[in-house]
Amino acid sequence: MEAEWQITGVTGMLGGAWAESLESQGKKVQQVGRDLFDLERPNADFLKRSSPTFFAHCAANTAVDACEDSPELAFRMNTAAVEVLGRALDPRRTTFVFISSTGIYGKANPSDPYSEYDEVRPTTVYHESKWRAEQWIRRHYANHLILRTGWLFGGRKEHRKNFVWKRIQESQGKTHLFGDPSQRGNPTYIPSLISTAERMISEGMRGTFNLVGDSSVTRLEYVAEIMRSAGQGVQVRAGDSSMFQRRAPVSPNESASNHKLKLSGLVFDSDWKKQMQNYIRTLQVEGT
Ligand SMILES: NC(=O)c1ccc[n+]([C@@H]2O[C@H](COP(=O)([O-])OP(=O)(O)OC[C@H]3O[C@@H](n4cnc5c(N)ncnc54)[C@H](OP(=O)(O)O)[C@@H]3O)[C@@H](O)[C@H]2O)c1
Repeated sequence: MEAEWQITGVTGMLGGAWAESLESQGKKVQQVGRDLFDLERPNADFLKRSSPTFFAHCAANTAVDACEDSPELAFRMNTAAVEVLGRALDPRRTTFVFISSTGIYGKANPSDPYSEYDEVRPTTVYHESKWRAEQWIRRHYANHLILRTGWLFGGRKEHRKNFVWKRIQESQGKTHLFGDPSQRGNPTYIPSLISTAERMISEGMRGTFNLVGDSSVTRLEYVAEIMRSAGQGVQVRAGDSSMFQRRAPVSPNESASNHKLKLSGLVFDSDWKKQMQNYIRTLQVEGT
């Protein structure tokens, strides 16, 4: 039986959870790993033998700082690879779901959450590569769903991008940590993102949408909540900007509102503090 879904990035936080969620609903899913589609050498021959109803592209070069050092590689993996997929897929049969980032909006607005109608001005190579991929899809692949998200949590401990687990590890044996009070974003629980995306797809929604948790918070507040949920009595203090220098000039405001989602009458299930508590409990039950 042909797979209804194909998903890339299945060893990552989002792609892995999405494949699991669909399989648990009895859907036929093909997990597209590096062996089938390598972003560094994009070749979509594997698509000659299949034509899914949905193609969710969750794989990416997510090393935001490293992308600054190797822009050519970043554009090949995050833009050119998307174009290769888009040319090989058939928009009459397949909805192309592309995961983008709310970090693409840039710095025009210092603190208010961005809506989909705001201008996009990426400040890093990584975000520029995502923005170029979005533009290609909008221009050349009508049957698309582009989801701009950010600050994902809910992965396994071993996931390289698991910010929550990294902070818990970092806090071991410490009385306090520092958080960045100048960086804003929306903590977004992966299972909520997946269930909302699935509802959007089943309701036939197509186009470009922000898809994030409902609360915009600072990194300081985010880390403080992680520590509170972990129950380790670790204090989180505001650090000064010199403590959070990065190679990539990430916009200090990555926060967004699900403006178009709300207009369409859907809500993002997002009590992120409760979701964080439950998520950290599952990590703690697993042990170290
Ligand atoms: N995490 C966030 O907060 C966040 C925020 C905004 C947008 N996003 C976007 O959401 C999507 C999912 O993110 P995530 O957090 O799940 O990322 P992740 O955990 O870093 O996973 C990235 C995935 O991409 C795969 N990948 C990397 N290089 C590859 C290559 N050369 N060929 C094929 N696959 C390759 C990885 O495979 P390997 O395990 O083999 O390396 C992994 O499966 C990405 O498009 C990301 O840009 C994430």
